[in-house]
Amino acid sequence: MSSSCGTEPLLEALEISKVFFRPTGPLKVLDGLDFVLQQEQAVAVMGASGSGKSTLLNILGSLDHPSTGHFRYRGEVLDFGKRSVVDHWRSRRIGFVFQNHMLLPDFTAFENLLLPARRLGPITHEIRQRAEYFLETTGLIDRAAHLPGELSGGEQQRIAVARAFMNTPAIVLADEPFGNLDREIGGRLGEMLFGLRDSEGTSLVIVTHDPRLAAIADLVLELVDGKLNPVESESLR
Ligand SMILES: Nc1ncnc2c1ncn2[C@@H]1O[C@H](COP(=O)(O)OP(=O)(O)O)[C@@H](O)[C@H]1O
Ligand SMILES: [Mg+2]
Repeated sequence: MSSSCGTEPLLEALEISKVFFRPTGPLKVLDGLDFVLQQEQAVAVMGASGSGKSTLLNILGSLDHPSTGHFRYRGEVLDFGKRSVVDHWRSRRIGFVFQNHMLLPDFTAFENLLLPARRLGPITHEIRQRAEYFLETTGLIDRAAHLPGELSGGEQQRIAVARAFMNTPAIVLADEPFGNLDREIGGRLGEMLFGLRDSEGTSLVIVTHDPRLAAIADLVLELVDGKLNPVESESLR
């Protein structure tokens, strides 16, 4: 595969299946699906509760292993057998936003923003400046020294969104990031997330039940019976 080709996919996850073995028997959640993400593309994943959306996102972000399947990143095979390689790839290339903000309660908003960078090395002046820049863009500069418990749910999730972009990842994976917030605040944070994705040039995969958010994605997919089906964006309006 030529790296000079401008349309080379960023991430290809092919023939991905996932079976959970439970006392009641095996449960096949993902059934040999293919997922291809282009550079700077925003993909919304919809689907019923329990259809496997979180399982898929965790596999795309290498937090979980598929039962079968293989991955290519910028055309190169990713070997998930090598733990240190995968951990580095994840820290460097992937940003996560979860439904629950997952901020560390004893660290300030500013310190929480620095956490992803700490995994990669010492905190430089540039990294601190980047964290300040994100506090500005998310409207939270005057909350820098606050602990998560001193912030509203929406403010906590704004920090969580900014944190996902701190290491200049290639891909941000967001799993129902605003599912716990009221509709209006969720809508505003969605615009903020898509705005950061535009300004940072990041690819985005967002699991959402909110048709307004799905409608501004470049591609909408629905997870049904372990497979991904395209959704016409007209049907979301
Ligand atoms: N670690 C696990 N062990 C066993 N079953 C699991 C595990 N994780 C998820 N499941 C099951 O897999 C299905 C899909 O879960 P999930 O990916 O969380 O769905 P969604 O995010 O679409 O609601 C559900 O039936 C869930 O109970
Ligand atoms: Mg889920």
